[in-house]
Amino acid sequence: MTGKIPTVDYEKVMNTDEGLYEWLNNIRIYGLGTVSGVPVTEEATKKTIERIGPIRDTHYGAFWAFTSGFAHGDLAYSTLEIPAHTDTTYFNDPAGLQLFHLLEEAGVGGEQFYVDGFAAAEILKKEDPEAHKILSEARVYGYQAGDENVFLKPTAQPYPLLNYNNKGELYQIRFNNEDRYIINNLKFDMVPKYYNALRKWMEIVRRPESELVLALKPGTLIAIDNWRVMHARKSFKGGRTLSGGYVDTDYWKSKYRVVSFRAKGKDCKAELL
Ligand SMILES: [Fe+2]
Repeated sequence: MTGKIPTVDYEKVMNTDEGLYEWLNNIRIYGLGTVSGVPVTEEATKKTIERIGPIRDTHYGAFWAFTSGFAHGDLAYSTLEIPAHTDTTYFNDPAGLQLFHLLEEAGVGGEQFYVDGFAAAEILKKEDPEAHKILSEARVYGYQAGDENVFLKPTAQPYPLLNYNNKGELYQIRFNNEDRYIINNLKFDMVPKYYNALRKWMEIVRRPESELVLALKPGTLIAIDNWRVMHARKSFKGGRTLSGGYVDTDYWKSKYRVVSFRAKGKDCKAELL
Protein backbone atom coordinates (compact mmCIF):
# COMPACT_ATOMS: atom_id res chain seq x y z
CA MET A 1 0.00 0.00 0.00
CA THR A 2 1.06 3.57 -0.49
CA GLY A 3 1.16 5.42 2.76
CA LYS A 4 1.66 8.77 4.35
CA ILE A 5 3.28 9.29 7.69
CA PRO A 6 3.48 12.50 9.70
CA THR A 7 6.37 14.75 8.82
CA VAL A 8 8.06 17.59 10.68
CA ASP A 9 9.46 20.76 9.15
CA TYR A 10 13.25 21.05 8.89
CA GLU A 11 13.51 24.46 10.60
CA LYS A 12 11.37 23.25 13.49
CA VAL A 13 13.55 20.14 13.95
CA MET A 14 16.80 22.08 13.79
CA ASN A 15 15.78 25.01 15.98
CA THR A 16 13.33 23.74 18.61
CA ASP A 17 13.16 20.94 21.16
CA GLU A 18 9.48 20.49 20.26
CA GLY A 19 10.38 19.84 16.60
CA LEU A 20 13.05 17.29 17.47
CA TYR A 21 10.73 15.66 19.99
CA GLU A 22 7.97 15.41 17.36
CA TRP A 23 10.30 13.72 14.87
CA LEU A 24 11.70 11.22 17.40
CA ASN A 25 8.24 10.53 18.78
CA ASN A 26 7.00 9.70 15.27
CA ILE A 27 9.87 7.23 14.93
CA ARG A 28 8.98 5.73 18.32
CA ILE A 29 5.30 5.35 17.40
CA TYR A 30 5.45 4.40 13.71
CA GLY A 31 8.97 2.97 13.46
CA LEU A 32 9.83 5.70 10.97
CA GLY A 33 9.53 9.45 10.60
CA THR A 34 10.42 12.09 8.04
CA VAL A 35 11.70 15.66 8.02
CA SER A 36 10.56 17.90 5.14
CA GLY A 37 12.22 20.92 3.60
CA VAL A 38 15.79 19.68 4.20
CA PRO A 39 18.22 21.56 1.92
CA VAL A 40 19.36 19.10 -0.75
CA THR A 41 23.03 19.10 0.22
CA GLU A 42 25.31 16.62 1.97
CA GLU A 43 26.15 19.19 4.64
CA ALA A 44 22.53 19.89 5.61
CA THR A 45 21.75 16.14 5.63
CA LYS A 46 24.69 15.43 7.94
CA LYS A 47 23.70 18.24 10.30
CA THR A 48 20.11 17.00 10.45
CA ILE A 49 21.27 13.50 11.40
CA GLU A 50 23.68 14.90 13.99
CA ARG A 51 20.79 16.78 15.59
CA ILE A 52 19.83 13.32 16.96
CA GLY A 53 23.28 12.09 17.92
CA PRO A 54 26.72 11.07 16.66
CA ILE A 55 26.78 9.25 13.33
CA ARG A 56 28.14 5.72 13.68
CA ASP A 57 31.30 5.04 11.71
CA THR A 58 31.38 1.72 9.85
CA HIS A 59 33.23 0.19 6.88
CA TYR A 60 30.72 2.15 4.73
CA GLY A 61 31.97 5.39 6.27
CA ALA A 62 30.15 7.48 8.88
CA PHE A 63 28.11 9.94 6.83
CA TRP A 64 27.96 8.62 3.28
CA ALA A 65 26.71 9.82 -0.11
CA PHE A 66 27.01 7.66 -3.18
CA THR A 67 25.77 7.28 -6.71
CA SER A 68 24.76 3.74 -7.71
CA GLY A 69 27.81 1.65 -8.68
CA PHE A 70 29.63 -1.07 -6.76
CA ALA A 71 31.69 1.05 -4.38
CA HIS A 72 31.32 -1.80 -1.87
CA GLY A 73 30.55 -5.49 -2.36
CA ASP A 74 26.98 -5.01 -1.20
CA LEU A 75 23.58 -5.01 -2.94
CA ALA A 76 22.87 -1.52 -1.62
CA TYR A 77 25.48 -0.15 -4.01
CA SER A 78 23.91 -1.76 -7.09
CA THR A 79 20.76 -0.98 -9.09
CA LEU A 80 19.23 -4.40 -8.25
CA GLU A 81 16.06 -5.03 -6.25
CA ILE A 82 16.76 -5.38 -2.53
CA PRO A 83 14.27 -7.48 -0.55
CA ALA A 84 13.05 -6.32 2.88
CA HIS A 85 15.76 -6.55 5.54
CA THR A 86 17.23 -4.85 8.56
CA ASP A 87 20.79 -3.55 8.31
CA THR A 88 23.94 -4.75 10.05
CA THR A 89 22.62 -8.05 11.46
CA TYR A 90 26.30 -8.98 11.66
CA PHE A 91 27.13 -6.45 14.40
CA ASN A 92 27.00 -7.21 18.11
CA ASP A 93 24.92 -4.04 18.33
CA PRO A 94 23.07 -3.49 15.03
CA ALA A 95 22.58 0.07 13.77
CA GLY A 96 19.70 1.79 15.57
CA LEU A 97 18.39 4.38 13.13
CA GLN A 98 18.97 4.21 9.42
CA LEU A 99 18.68 7.65 7.80
CA PHE A 100 18.24 8.26 4.07
CA HIS A 101 18.12 11.42 2.01
CA LEU A 102 17.84 11.14 -1.78
CA LEU A 103 19.95 13.93 -3.24
CA GLU A 104 19.37 13.08 -6.89
CA GLU A 105 16.36 11.19 -8.28
CA ALA A 106 16.54 7.78 -9.99
CA GLY A 107 15.68 7.49 -13.67
CA VAL A 108 13.02 4.77 -13.49
CA GLY A 109 11.88 2.60 -10.56
CA GLY A 110 13.74 2.33 -7.28
CA GLU A 111 10.68 2.80 -5.05
CA GLN A 112 11.45 2.29 -1.38
CA PHE A 113 9.14 0.32 0.83
CA TYR A 114 9.08 -0.58 4.49
CA VAL A 115 7.76 -3.51 6.52
CA ASP A 116 6.96 -3.30 10.23
CA GLY A 117 8.82 -6.27 11.75
CA PHE A 118 6.96 -6.06 15.07
CA ALA A 119 3.61 -6.29 13.24
CA ALA A 120 4.92 -9.22 11.15
CA ALA A 121 6.00 -11.00 14.38
CA GLU A 122 2.48 -10.60 15.81
CA ILE A 123 0.97 -12.11 12.65
CA LEU A 124 3.46 -14.99 12.75
CA LYS A 125 2.65 -15.67 16.40
CA LYS A 126 -1.05 -15.88 15.56
CA GLU A 127 -0.77 -17.90 12.35
CA ASP A 128 2.10 -20.22 13.23
CA PRO A 129 3.08 -20.23 16.94
CA GLU A 130 5.66 -22.98 16.40
CA ALA A 131 7.47 -20.95 13.70
CA HIS A 132 7.32 -17.92 15.99
CA LYS A 133 8.90 -19.93 18.82
CA ILE A 134 11.69 -21.21 16.57
CA LEU A 135 12.55 -17.74 15.25
CA SER A 136 12.54 -16.36 18.82
CA GLU A 137 14.91 -19.05 20.10
CA ALA A 138 17.10 -20.46 17.32
CA ARG A 139 20.32 -18.50 16.95
CA VAL A 140 21.87 -18.05 13.53
CA TYR A 141 24.81 -15.81 12.65
CA GLY A 142 24.68 -12.83 10.34
CA TYR A 143 27.91 -11.97 8.54
CA GLN A 144 29.33 -9.48 6.08
CA ALA A 145 32.29 -10.29 3.89
CA GLY A 146 31.54 -8.34 0.71
CA ASP A 147 34.51 -6.00 1.05
CA GLU A 148 38.01 -7.42 0.63
CA ASN A 149 39.24 -6.44 4.09
CA VAL A 150 36.07 -7.13 6.07
CA PHE A 151 34.69 -10.24 7.77
CA LEU A 152 32.12 -9.24 10.36
CA LYS A 153 30.24 -11.63 12.66
CA PRO A 154 28.82 -11.11 16.17
CA THR A 155 31.56 -11.98 18.63
CA ALA A 156 29.88 -13.45 21.68
CA GLN A 157 27.01 -15.40 20.17
CA PRO A 158 24.60 -15.63 17.24
CA TYR A 159 21.16 -14.03 17.72
CA PRO A 160 17.58 -15.08 16.97
CA LEU A 161 15.64 -13.30 14.24
CA LEU A 162 13.09 -12.16 16.87
CA ASN A 163 14.74 -10.85 20.04
CA TYR A 164 12.62 -10.65 23.19
CA ASN A 165 13.77 -9.14 26.49
CA ASN A 166 13.27 -10.78 29.88
CA LYS A 167 9.87 -9.07 30.22
CA GLY A 168 8.71 -10.88 27.11
CA GLU A 169 8.75 -7.71 24.98
CA LEU A 170 9.99 -7.87 21.41
CA TYR A 171 12.75 -5.26 21.16
CA GLN A 172 14.71 -6.18 18.05
CA ILE A 173 14.35 -7.83 14.65
CA ARG A 174 17.51 -9.11 12.97
CA PHE A 175 16.63 -10.17 9.47
CA ASN A 176 18.70 -10.04 6.33
CA ASN A 177 18.51 -13.18 4.25
CA GLU A 178 21.43 -11.96 2.12
CA ASP A 179 23.68 -11.68 5.19
CA ARG A 180 22.70 -14.99 6.81
CA TYR A 181 25.73 -17.18 7.61
CA ILE A 182 25.76 -20.95 7.03
CA ILE A 183 23.61 -22.65 9.65
CA ASN A 184 26.33 -24.55 11.47
CA ASN A 185 25.22 -24.16 15.06
CA LEU A 186 21.74 -25.73 15.12
CA LYS A 187 21.06 -29.38 15.84
CA PHE A 188 20.65 -31.41 12.66
CA ASP A 189 16.89 -31.99 13.07
CA MET A 190 16.34 -28.27 13.76
CA VAL A 191 17.65 -27.18 10.36
CA PRO A 192 14.56 -28.12 8.25
CA LYS A 193 12.31 -26.74 11.01
CA TYR A 194 14.26 -23.49 10.95
CA TYR A 195 13.95 -23.19 7.18
CA ASN A 196 10.20 -23.84 7.36
CA ALA A 197 9.81 -21.14 10.01
CA LEU A 198 11.88 -18.76 7.92
CA ARG A 199 9.76 -19.50 4.85
CA LYS A 200 6.60 -18.64 6.78
CA TRP A 201 8.18 -15.40 8.08
CA MET A 202 9.21 -14.37 4.57
CA GLU A 203 5.75 -15.15 3.21
CA ILE A 204 4.27 -12.72 5.77
CA VAL A 205 6.93 -10.06 5.15
CA ARG A 206 6.31 -10.22 1.39
CA ARG A 207 2.52 -9.80 1.58
CA PRO A 208 1.51 -6.65 -0.29
CA GLU A 209 -0.44 -5.49 2.79
CA SER A 210 2.78 -5.68 4.86
CA GLU A 211 4.52 -3.17 2.59
CA LEU A 212 4.35 0.57 3.09
CA VAL A 213 5.54 2.30 -0.06
CA LEU A 214 6.96 5.78 0.44
CA ALA A 215 8.53 7.58 -2.49
CA LEU A 216 11.83 9.14 -1.50
CA LYS A 217 12.13 12.74 -2.70
CA PRO A 218 14.98 15.20 -2.52
CA GLY A 219 14.23 17.47 0.46
CA THR A 220 12.68 14.72 2.60
CA LEU A 221 14.93 12.85 5.02
CA ILE A 222 13.59 9.61 6.45
CA ALA A 223 14.68 7.94 9.69
CA ILE A 224 13.88 4.25 10.11
CA ASP A 225 14.09 2.31 13.38
CA ASN A 226 16.36 -0.48 12.14
CA TRP A 227 15.56 -2.62 15.20
CA ARG A 228 11.91 -2.73 14.16
CA VAL A 229 11.26 -1.78 10.53
CA MET A 230 12.72 -3.51 7.48
CA HIS A 231 13.53 -1.51 4.37
CA ALA A 232 13.56 -2.58 0.73
CA ARG A 233 13.97 -1.15 -2.73
CA LYS A 234 12.75 -2.04 -6.21
CA SER A 235 15.34 -2.22 -8.98
CA PHE A 236 15.94 0.93 -10.98
CA LYS A 237 17.50 2.21 -14.18
CA GLY A 238 19.58 5.33 -14.32
CA GLY A 239 21.67 7.00 -11.68
CA ARG A 240 20.77 8.35 -8.32
CA THR A 241 22.60 9.78 -5.38
CA LEU A 242 21.60 8.71 -1.93
CA SER A 243 23.07 9.98 1.32
CA GLY A 244 22.65 8.97 4.92
CA GLY A 245 24.10 7.41 8.03
CA TYR A 246 23.36 5.43 11.17
CA VAL A 247 22.68 6.58 14.73
CA ASP A 248 22.94 4.04 17.55
CA THR A 249 19.82 3.06 19.48
CA ASP A 250 21.47 4.22 22.71
CA TYR A 251 21.86 7.74 21.33
CA TRP A 252 18.47 8.22 19.70
CA LYS A 253 16.66 6.86 22.76
CA SER A 254 18.80 9.11 24.98
CA LYS A 255 17.92 12.18 22.89
CA TYR A 256 14.26 11.17 22.87
CA ARG A 257 14.25 11.02 26.70
CA VAL A 258 15.88 14.42 27.05
CA VAL A 259 13.74 16.33 24.52
CA SER A 260 10.48 14.64 25.52
CA PHE A 261 10.90 16.23 28.96
CA ARG A 262 12.36 19.50 27.69
CA ALA A 263 9.54 19.97 25.18
CA LYS A 264 7.15 19.92 28.15
CA GLY A 265 9.29 22.43 30.07
CA LYS A 266 10.68 19.78 32.43
CA ASP A 267 14.17 18.58 33.23
CA CYS A 268 14.72 14.92 32.30
CA LYS A 269 17.43 14.41 34.92
CA ALA A 270 15.47 16.01 37.71
CA GLU A 271 12.56 13.69 36.86
CA LEU A 272 14.46 10.45 36.22
CA LEU A 273 17.49 10.48 38.48
FE1 LIG B 1 19.80 -1.85 3.91
